[in-house]
This record gives sequence, C-alpha cells and structure tokens, in this order.
Amino acid sequence: MAATRLPERDYGGRAMIKLGIFFGGKSGEHEVSLMSVGSVIRAIDREKYQPVLIGITKQGKWLLYDGTVEAIEDGSWEEIAQQAVEAHPEKYEIIMYGDSPLALRNRIDFALPILHGPYGEDGTIQGLFEIMDIPYAGCGVLSSAVAMDKIVARDTFASAGLAQPKYIPTNREEIQREGSALMERVEKELGYPAFVKPANMGSSVGLSKVKNRRELAAALELALRYDRRIIIEEGIDCREIETAALGNYSAEFGAIGEIISANEEFYDYDSKYKEGNQTKLCIPASLTPGQEKEVLKMAQIAYQAIDGTGLARIDFLMDKHTGKFYINEINTMPGFTKYSMFPLLWQETGMTYAQLIERIVELGYERYYAKNRRQTGNQ
Ligand SMILES: Nc1ncnc2c1ncn2[C@@H]1O[C@H](COP(=O)(O)OP(=O)(O)O)[C@@H](O)[C@H]1O
Ligand SMILES: [Mg+2]
Repeated sequence: MAATRLPERDYGGRAMIKLGIFFGGKSGEHEVSLMSVGSVIRAIDREKYQPVLIGITKQGKWLLYDGTVEAIEDGSWEEIAQQAVEAHPEKYEIIMYGDSPLALRNRIDFALPILHGPYGEDGTIQGLFEIMDIPYAGCGVLSSAVAMDKIVARDTFASAGLAQPKYIPTNREEIQREGSALMERVEKELGYPAFVKPANMGSSVGLSKVKNRRELAAALELALRYDRRIIIEEGIDCREIETAALGNYSAEFGAIGEIISANEEFYDYDSKYKEGNQTKLCIPASLTPGQEKEVLKMAQIAYQAIDGTGLARIDFLMDKHTGKFYINEINTMPGFTKYSMFPLLWQETGMTYAQLIERIVELGYERYYAKNRRQTGNQ
C-alpha cells in the first residue's frame, strides 16, 4: 500500500509546506523559465510556504539554490549554486533516491515545476515526481506529453472534433527520403503561407512562417535542429485569442485575452520576450458574447481531451475574415512573468498572483490524494 505523504486533513492546517520550485531546465526555453520563476517566488505566501529552489542547468544538473531572485533572472545563480554545493555538500547536495535527509523527497513536500518545453512540460519530470511519490502542480504525465507534442495534440483535438488548421505531420527520415514530394504535398494540401514547427518545442523556438518553397526547405532544416518530428500547418490570417484554465479534469476559466504581436507576421520569440517590444495584451479581448461562449466551449473540450489537471493556457487562432475559431495549442506550463497572459487573465477576474499559486498547489494536492485513494483501494 502506497504511503500518503501528508494526511489530507493536514493540508491547510499545516504550518509550512516545503514548496519545491523548479526552474531553468534542459530545454531551449531555459531562459523563459528564469523569467517566469522570479514572479512566482516573489508572490508566494511565506506564512504558508517555505520555498526550496531547485535550479536545473542547461546540461541537466540539479542544484539547490538559496540566493537572490535577481541572480536567477540574470543567470548568475548557476555559479553561486555550484560553489555552494562544492563548499557544503552536506547541505546543498540533492540525492534523487533513498531516504537520506538530502533526498529530494525529504527536501520538499510539493513540487512546482516552473519549467517550459522538453524535460519540464512534456511529462518527463512529472513521471519522476510520480515515481518518487511527490505531489506536484499541473498536468500529469499523459496530458503534459500530449499537449507538448504538436502532432499528437492535433490528432487528439481532431478526435475531439475541434476545428484546427490543416496539418501534415512529418519527420527527419521522411524529409531526407522524399523531401521534394513532401514539399509538393504541402503546396497542394496546405498552400502558402504555411507554418513549420518542431513537434516538441515552445516559445516559437525553431518555428517559421514560410511563403515559398525555398523558405519551406530552410524552415524544415531549422526545425530539424530541435526535433526529429515536425508539423507543417496551413497558415491562418488570424487574431490570437487565449484563455486560462484551472481545474482537475474539468476547468474553470479566467478572462479571455488577445495578443497583438509586435511582429506582424507571427508571434515570434522576440515579440514574446524581448525587453521593450511592442506586443500588446488586450484583456479582455474584444469579442461578442457569442464568440466568448464559443471560445470557452472549445477550451473545455480541448482541456478534457488531453485530460488536463491543474492549469493550462489554451490558445486559439481566430480567422480574421470568417471569424471562425481554430484551436492552436495548450500550454500546460504557461509563462508566469508579471506580464504573462496566464496570471493576467486570472487577475482580471479578481484573483491575485498569490491566490493563483495557492489554487494551483491545492489542485495538485487534490489530484494526488484522489489518485492515492484509488491506488490503495481506500475510497
Ligand atoms: N497555423 C497557423 N496559422 C497562423 N499563425 C500561426 C499558426 N501556427 C502558429 N502560428 C503563429 O506562430 C506562433 C507560435 O506558434 P505556436 O504553435 O503557438 O508555437 P509555440 O509553442 O512555439 O508557441 C503563434 O502564436 C502564431 O502567431
Ligand atoms: Mg504558442
């Protein structure tokens, strides 16, 4: 019988929860995580949570860190943490398995992975928490993996009957074997402009909008640097509409917002994160009540289709000409900076940043206990 980590009644009444906050990570979105985590650390309720910061380097090394938030944001945390562990391994070392006081399971009560992209948002670290029996925030293994993989996500949305851009999945082997036949197919079935995306990535890294065959060939090559699986999509001339979900298996939604990207072509990395860029977030988005209803209906279907838990940001493309909504993607660990859509969409409903984090932790515990009861047959 699996032991429960904290008795259910203790949640809420417990003096301090050791909140393991994970940041950095091995993915191309390492820097994005550094930007997000600062706002989370600043916002958490210190009466209730004792933050235990665990930074993950780009090489994948886990380092316990007790320095400043500023040093996380400017990247210097890594050296500070490295020196600390060398000087005081008895205090700073993290042991993955076993029951030593240094073991991850004894260092934290709850895991909050503020990690984006591969190894953070794709089910892998969630699997580690499951195996270690550590309750954690956000989507589980399957829903994280499904949402992260743009091909599997599209197939899942298709079987849930959601409208989306036409798409062609492909991979390195196919591109090498029959690149020109593939490009002809793209031209015939999707046309230009088209979007070429690595299947497992985010923050527009490795993603291109292409308008002719030369650009298509270059975009495939670029995307292959990030993943062996690639998706090519019909380009929609669109407004970008997003909403924020909170809930286990069925979601409540925050406001609906619109992104007006600094780059008119598409919402690229610089328009997302570059200091001082001209991207605007309009909250609430200017939509009719009927359109809002449609977005929320589709968002609920999408969230349930991936079996979402905890939180997610659900993004839509709204055809500028027809007004039709297409699901674009679900981000199971959306950006969390002060300027990020997800926390702002909740603030619009009156929820503060600290309350939002509280709710995310609560939902993580709820799912953990529900699962644990099921496993022990102790309904
Ligand atoms: N099929 C599409 N039609 C029009 N624009 C698109 C399409 N797919 C992506 N985009 C643009 O590219 C941006 C990034 O694509 P997205 O699929 O959201 O990847 P990421 O996971 O990197 O955010 C979107 O925000 C949008 O501006
Ligand atoms: Mg996106």
